[in-house]
Amino acid sequence: MDELDGRALREYFSGEGTVSEWWTPDSGPLAFHYDAEQRILEEQLPIDPSWRVLDVGTGHGRFGVQLAGHGCRVVGVDLSREMLARATERARKRGVEERFEPRLGSATDLSTFGEGAFDAVLCMELFDHLPDLGAALREMRRVLAPGGHLVFTYVPGESLYGLLGNAYRALKRRARPGELLISRTYGLRAVREALEASGLRLERYYGVGVLCANAQTRLLTGNPLARAATAVARVESRFWPYHRAPWLARHGAHVVGFAR
Ligand SMILES: C[S@@+](CC[C@H](N)C(=O)[O-])C[C@H]1O[C@@H](n2cnc3c(N)ncnc32)[C@H](O)[C@@H]1O
Repeated sequence: MDELDGRALREYFSGEGTVSEWWTPDSGPLAFHYDAEQRILEEQLPIDPSWRVLDVGTGHGRFGVQLAGHGCRVVGVDLSREMLARATERARKRGVEERFEPRLGSATDLSTFGEGAFDAVLCMELFDHLPDLGAALREMRRVLAPGGHLVFTYVPGESLYGLLGNAYRALKRRARPGELLISRTYGLRAVREALEASGLRLERYYGVGVLCANAQTRLLTGNPLARAATAVARVESRFWPYHRAPWLARHGAHVVGFAR
């Protein structure tokens, strides 16, 4: 597995017209998968309106605004000013702007927040872009109150979606060796070990989209094969919005994990 370049990635995500161009979880072809992640939080996280919540890599604020909607006070951190502007707009539209505070910052430096400052820390769809998962988890652990919840998603290298994504990245690397690599996959064991090294324990996890083969949806948009793959993923999600059985859960295109 290729290493990600931390400095180059910080520049990339801080820059304009980068992640904001391709991260479209609400409207993209796999929006139903991303909706399922929010459903998992509704159904599996014992959300308390009194919580102080940190949403690391908040993006459009999908999860931060969701929890603000439950009454929680949320800080959404992101490297991208553009994404923070979108998150702020989302909070305004949902009428929760007074409970959602956007903050420019990095997952690996949460030093503006004190120890144990949050009852829950969310880190959704971000592990894949972190060159040093351990460093980020140590920071998240530090700002988490004792017994607090860490909720995260990652794309497992052992899923069909992750395997195809890795094959695509390997081909791209060969064709264009100088191009910046912006994501990678993790396996369940690596995630569990990184959590433990930071003082957290993986308690449970759920998987979305075992049959999802659309790892490079943007590349294949309009292609009949991609449309067929999306149709299969859609049918799966109708019957199983998300999987709870451990084998299926850890082979989902996205795994949503809960640690404390
Ligand atoms: C794939 S998006 C996910 C957004 C959101 N969590 C969601 O699930 O919709 C990743 C977000 O993390 C931000 N990001 C990337 N690296 C980061 C870092 N090291 N620290 C903070 N934010 C980061 C990006 O700018 C982007 O908004």
